[in-house]
Amino acid sequence: MREAHVFSEIVHHTISADEVRAKAPCAIILSGGPKSVYDTPAPSLDPAIYELGIPVLGICYGAQLMAQQLGGDVANTGVGEYGRTTLTRQGASVLMPEWPANVTCWMSHGDAIARAPDGFVVTASSLEAPVAVMENVTRRLHAVQFHPEVVHTEHGQELLDNFLHHVAGVAPTWTNTSIIEDQVALIRAQVGEEKVLCALSGGVDSAVAAALVTKAVGHQLTCVFVDTGLMRKNEGDQIEETFTRQFGVELIHVKAQDRFFDALAGVTDPEAKRKIIGELFIREFEAVARDLGKGGDGPRFLVQGTLYPDVIESGSGYAANIKSHHNVGGLPDDLSFELIEPLRNLFKDEVRHVGEELGLPSEIVWRQPFPGPGLGVRIVGEVTRERAEILRNADHVVVDEIKKAGLYRELWQSFAVLPAVRTVGVMGDGRTYAYPIIIRAVTSDDAMTADWARLPYDVIESIANRLIREVDGVNRVALDVTSKPPGTIEWE
Ligand code: XMP
Repeated sequence: MREAHVFSEIVHHTISADEVRAKAPCAIILSGGPKSVYDTPAPSLDPAIYELGIPVLGICYGAQLMAQQLGGDVANTGVGEYGRTTLTRQGASVLMPEWPANVTCWMSHGDAIARAPDGFVVTASSLEAPVAVMENVTRRLHAVQFHPEVVHTEHGQELLDNFLHHVAGVAPTWTNTSIIEDQVALIRAQVGEEKVLCALSGGVDSAVAAALVTKAVGHQLTCVFVDTGLMRKNEGDQIEETFTRQFGVELIHVKAQDRFFDALAGVTDPEAKRKIIGELFIREFEAVARDLGKGGDGPRFLVQGTLYPDVIESGSGYAANIKSHHNVGGLPDDLSFELIEPLRNLFKDEVRHVGEELGLPSEIVWRQPFPGPGLGVRIVGEVTRERAEILRNADHVVVDEIKKAGLYRELWQSFAVLPAVRTVGVMGDGRTYAYPIIIRAVTSDDAMTADWARLPYDVIESIANRLIREVDGVNRVALDVTSKPPGTIEWE
């Protein structure tokens, strides 16, 4: 929907017709899903929603549910279609007005609609789906068995565009510029003349959120960057360069490295390390916030880089796997802020585009995800200043070579890991006793699962050569070929 420049929200299928009416959407899309309408329980929909006069597009399971609820038949044939399938058109269609007679589409279904409900016209079929597309133009109810949203479906996005723009009459006005304008106006209205505080982490989300707030009320904003000693190479300098010199924002750069390394001395347990880093981060941030509030006119608002997927995950009650971030949470009661969350309607891709539009450097905007505790979760065993320095230098080499090979954006993450063993090696004429570096590179869509990236041999070779040559304390290089599961992406 968003690629068609239309704002969309995800809601749970248990939403009632009254709730839908109150939200007054221009259109409704029923998504696909892994269930069969014959399962008990099977996800269902308040049938009064079809009577609201709002255009509905059912996709896959959503199509079957619509067929069943409106009086058609769904057959539990056991013969499904998976993957590339030929769709054969029949008659005129609002969704596919100028499509050729046969189109390749992507299917993934076990059940199939056997008979469309009264009032519907079947406008396409496939070998195992006699009703692959059905439409009731008068009631503006449409359903497709295939997946228009996947790239393998020819003209798929066009079908969605047709539904939104022609059937539902929605104008394509949701653009990066409109997002920025809307948010700037909202932030100004929310903040008034008050002061605003923002913690920058080096990551994309906090940087884009801060850039938006800068555009809205830049002179009222103070940014805080806590250097934990566990950041990537040049991260602090880049933040400072961008926000202080380019955007002219007040930036408090807290150089807390010593305090973090002191607190981490001798600690090897992964959870204990995470806890120490998280709590110390909050204490450092708190100290700055208290300091700013001393005269009595401290910041009242706090900027958070919450994204739409975080909102869905915490609101839906069933999406699992929410990470506990150490990013500013758990502040003491006397430091209560009102939140500004200018990205809470956006997906990651949109955030990146908004960031570009706001003039953030592409190095920040296109950065791969980086965990809150930073290099701390990539150093197995004790985290010391020396070991963090080895890993930071090694990480820089890995990322640099991956970027040179043009692979940085297509990989979910690519980084170096420092294990807690040393091994014997030989360099020049001498024996060495130093650390190996493990190269970790994965592909993934959402970090819930991941596959190890099949890096080209010559890229692995140049990374390995440079690691040995350029990074003191390293004498060996290994490659992690574990997917998730059974592994995790990070090592700790
Ligand atoms: P794992 O290692 O569990 O990581 O497969 C999944 C994704 O989450 C990131 N990650 C974190 N992000 N705070 C964060 O903000 C954390 O404590 C944290 N731990 C892991 C990790 O980089 C990967 O993208």
